[in-house]
This record gives sequence, structure tokens and C-alpha cells, in this order.
Amino acid sequence: MNTGNSRIFKKLAENRFTTPLFLISLDEIERQYKRLKDAFKGRARVFYAIKSNPDREILGFLAWLGCDFEINTSGELGSVASLGRGCINSAPVKDIESIRVMHRWGVEHFAFDTVGEFEKLALHAPGCYVYPRLSVSNEKSIFELSGKFGMKGNDAVHALDIAKSLGLRPAGVTFHVGSQCRSVSNWQKGIRESARVFKACREKGIELSIVNIGGGFPIHYSNNHIGIESIAEPVLKWVNEYFGNNVELWLEPGRFISGPAGVYFTKVIGVKNGKGGHYAYVDGSVFTGLMEALQEQGEFPYKAEVLGKAGKSAKYKVFGQSCDGTDIIFNELSLPELEAGDVVAIYGTGAYSYAYGSRFNGLRVPQIAYLRGRKLIWRK
Ligand SMILES: Cc1ncc(COP(=O)(O)O)c(C=O)c1O
Repeated sequence: MNTGNSRIFKKLAENRFTTPLFLISLDEIERQYKRLKDAFKGRARVFYAIKSNPDREILGFLAWLGCDFEINTSGELGSVASLGRGCINSAPVKDIESIRVMHRWGVEHFAFDTVGEFEKLALHAPGCYVYPRLSVSNEKSIFELSGKFGMKGNDAVHALDIAKSLGLRPAGVTFHVGSQCRSVSNWQKGIRESARVFKACREKGIELSIVNIGGGFPIHYSNNHIGIESIAEPVLKWVNEYFGNNVELWLEPGRFISGPAGVYFTKVIGVKNGKGGHYAYVDGSVFTGLMEALQEQGEFPYKAEVLGKAGKSAKYKVFGQSCDGTDIIFNELSLPELEAGDVVAIYGTGAYSYAYGSRFNGLRVPQIAYLRGRKLIWRK
């Protein structure tokens, strides 16, 4: 979202709203969802990974658009249980209570990447559908997941065989190429490995029907990214080549749907000439919703601007308000010369942001507001 001229941005520039504030554009959520569906030519079923932003307005809106959901734990179930949409679980390792609750509430599809996990599933979600999480390349993804999750194709075939003997229903496979993925070939390798698992399973009399290619679809920050159409087109080609029409293609986007919808507004509360340059301190913090800046140590490529200000710029190190030395939002960012009271807009902050937020240091939890058309709706 980049609506620099809207009347809301104007009011923020005039300091007529308090900060920090997350503004979420529901129009942008709709655009991203439809763009993804169109890019995959209506061939893919979309399960929004709610961990990226479990905001109830976003979830309700996506349900209304016809989107299904992917949850990680039973703790996320409460947000979607009443929405009447499909819900799957793709976390390879879960606690028993989570499995029980999800199963009781009708979740039927579960991932695993260890034998111990499907033993738990056989006991606490008997008869459920299972799919192994394959280990695939996460090369060139900003956030790698392959170091933590995944199993080799051969092990997955063996595991599905045992799972079947325990009364579970082998459904397909899943993988994740890493979040904000910048290499299309990761998907190709994953699809090729999935096809091998399908073939080996068929030889054992196990018929699989689902390839869940996870999330990882990148969005635009301040640097280059691959457009979704340039991912979907080859992915559809590989799926056709390796599977023909006999497969259900599932996607679990998180960042792609929620990321572009968010703008974080934070106010400058102090400036000084620090060691080696200009410092700016803002009323927001990595701990109240910019966790990816913390994970990337001030190098996350968010795009930012100062509202209503142009002119001579300087390079700023931008710190959050907490006492923590790691509370660095930008190591170096060119901004017009700042003074206390200026409002900085940080774009592309709808994903993995306020879902992480804490009250560390007693910091103010950001307000949340939504944009739909010309309407501004405050979260109650
Ligand atoms: C199992 C699973 N599916 C989907 C996602 C969403 O990934 P992304 O936000 O990169 O699309 C994640 C993110 O960690 C995940 O763990």
C-alpha cells in the first residue's frame, strides 16, 4: 500500500492520529488474494497462513472472499473456527493437546516430518489425512526454514507406508521454500521431489493426490523481487509436466497476502548526532511490531518515507523507543532532515509484524485501523 496522497495520510502528517499505528488496507488484501488466484489460473486452492497476520478483520474478510486457512497450533483455531472455511495444519511438530483440539474441531489434514509425529496423530487424530513435509532448497530466501523442518523423499515414502498401517490416510506432500523466496528453482526442486515421492508411493499401492507447495511468495519492499506471475507460470508448467491434471495444487501464502496491506506509522521523538552519523528515535519499536527488522538487525529492506516532508536529506540510524540496544529499525536510511514530531511511514509491514508485538518496556501497543475504499475503520 502506498497511498501517499490520501486524506488519512494527510491527517497523520498533521499529527491528528496517535502513533504508533498500523493501517491495514483491506482493498490490498483483496488485490493480493485475487492476483494470486489469477496467476495460478484458478488451479490452486489457497490456504492463508494465518501466522503472518491473524487479525480478525483480515481473516473474516478473506473468508468472505472464499479463502481457506492454514494454522500452526490449536491456539490459532479460535480465530477461524467460526468462519466456515477449510482449515489445515502444516506444522510438522505439534503438542498433543493441539492435535486433539484441532481434530475435535474438524481439522483433517496434518503435516509431519518425524515418525514420532504420526504416531501421535494416529492416537489423537485417528483416521486423519497426513502429508510429510519434504526438505527442499531454501536458497536465496530471506527467512530459511529448511534448517528446522523437512524430511528426505525416501524417508517420506517409508513414513507414509507406516502411517497407512497405523490407520492414517496418506494425502500428499508439502514443502516450504523459505519466506520471501528469491529463487524460482526452489519450487522446481520441490515439485520434482514431490513427483518422486508420488511415484514411489504408487509402486507401494499408496495413491497421493495433493501437492502443497507452501508459502514463500515474495513481495516488493525497497529492492527487487520476483513477481508472482513469474513464479506461477513455471510452477504450473512443472506441475503439468510432472503430474498432469491428476493432482490438487495447494498454496499457503502468508506474507504475499498480508504484507503489502500494512503501513506502520511511528513518530520521531528525538534526534541527535550519534557515533558516526545522525540518529533518530521513534515512538515505535521492533518489539511492538517490526520483529523482522530485529531478525535482520536493522537491514530489513522496508521502504519508508516521512509524511509531508521533502527537501535536503541525511542518512539516519533509526532506533525504536525501548532501552534495548538491538531495537534498531534501520541501520541506515535516507530521510529528509528530521525533527521531533515528524511521522515516518514504513511500508510492507502487514506480515509478521503486530502478530509478534509485545509490551516490552511498557511500550504502547500500536493502534490498528483498516482502510476499505475511502472508509477508515478503527479496531475496537
Ligand atoms: C507451514 C507454513 N506454511 C506457510 C507459511 C507462510 O509463509 P510465507 O509467509 O512466506 O508465505 C509458513 C511460514 O512460516 C509456514 O511455516
